[in-house]
Amino acid sequence: MPARKASTTELFADPDVASEKVSSAATLEVLQQEVAGCTLCDELAAKRTQTVFGVGDPNARLCFMGEAPGADEDRLGEPFVGRAGQLLTKIIQACKLTRDDVYILNVLKCRPPGNRNPTPTESANCKQYLRRQLELVDPEFICCLGAVAAQNLLETTETIGRLRGRVHQYRGINVVCTYHPAYLLRNPSAKKDCWDDMKMLMAKMGVEL
Ligand code: URA
Repeated sequence: MPARKASTTELFADPDVASEKVSSAATLEVLQQEVAGCTLCDELAAKRTQTVFGVGDPNARLCFMGEAPGADEDRLGEPFVGRAGQLLTKIIQACKLTRDDVYILNVLKCRPPGNRNPTPTESANCKQYLRRQLELVDPEFICCLGAVAAQNLLETTETIGRLRGRVHQYRGINVVCTYHPAYLLRNPSAKKDCWDDMKMLMAKMGVEL
């Protein structure tokens, strides 16, 4: 019998990258346990206090998606609980919602040491979890917070300034992009643009402000 031809994916696959895989976890709880035991990224797995999975309504219409846990999130095991998280909570409240009404998650489930940006390999490794997490929550809307989240989800290199202000699509889900709350803390003048993005998002969702 002739030997099976290797697929293009197999030929070019980086053995350290699991980007083509999608977890088959049947529930968010099972997926969370899978993530907690993940060691795909040596450095992140060795240095994390714990993985940071997601929080909020598992059936939410709206997900807020950030980049990766910071020091506070790594310590407490919940996304967006530090200073940037407090600003995100205020943004959510300004939309007449609470953190319990939405689902909050990050591209990466482990803290990159020193809060550096995720490497392409780390993002690719975590993608199987992100994809399954979004399949399980099945939101109608995703709000990407900052360039890393937006570029990762939409697989683009466009800047956040160009991505914001319009609705994109990810696997049938409406995606809006805005500035990361940590950026807003450093650049308060960008808060107006963020609020414009939130007003557009709420209008699309049919939420009256
Ligand atoms: N920044 C992020 O992108 N995510 C967090 O969870 C906290 C800060």
